[in-house]
Amino acid sequence: MKRTALFLGMAASAVALASCQQPASKAVGPRAEVSIQEIMQSQVDAPADVIWNATSTIVDANGEVTHTPRTDEDWKALRNAAVTLLEAPNLLVMEGRPLLKAGAKVEAEDEGWVSNGAQIQAALDKDRPLFNERAWRLQGAAQEVLAAVDKRDAEQMEIAGSKLIEACHACHGQFWFAPAKP
Ligand code: HEC
Repeated sequence: MKRTALFLGMAASAVALASCQQPASKAVGPRAEVSIQEIMQSQVDAPADVIWNATSTIVDANGEVTHTPRTDEDWKALRNAAVTLLEAPNLLVMEGRPLLKAGAKVEAEDEGWVSNGAQIQAALDKDRPLFNERAWRLQGAAQEVLAAVDKRDAEQMEIAGSKLIEACHACHGQFWFAPAKP
């Protein structure tokens, strides 16, 4: 009796499983939903600002005041930013992600010192491996930021923060600042 119940249960779950199966044609891998520009704005620039703004020294008539992260909340916010930054390069290198969403323009593209969307796209088409290598460099810098945050070491975080800026420039020099030469 017990056995029959068990068997019936198994059969029922097999039926349930079969009916859940996706048609073979449906893609189940990651899907790029937003553009490289949107990742740049929300998952690269925004968290990098959190890291860079966390430490500062203000010098005025009253002397020097150094601001560093202190509370658990401060460090928690920094950790969230570092984690976002660490995974962002995976999103940047993903296949099928457009550079811009329809109708969007690259920041400052009318000012002449940065490339426009078509120029950047051509540079990407010409040397995607270079773009990806620059993305991994960003990831390397983000790893150092996270390590410093986990040690709650503000000084080490500042050093990692300067490597982060270098990683931004290394890609921008190639793919954003004008004109990208395809
Ligand atoms: C792997 C390449 C790469 C790396 C690394 C990178 N960027 Fe970018 N970034 C780009 C490209 C390409 C553009 C131009 C397209 C666009 O506007 O997003 C850009 C544009 C931007 C823009 C302008 C976005 C807009 O509104 O058009 C900002 C802000 C920016 N990056 C910030 C950063 C910061 C901060 C870092 C480092 C923490 C960084 N980027 C690292 C490739 C990169």
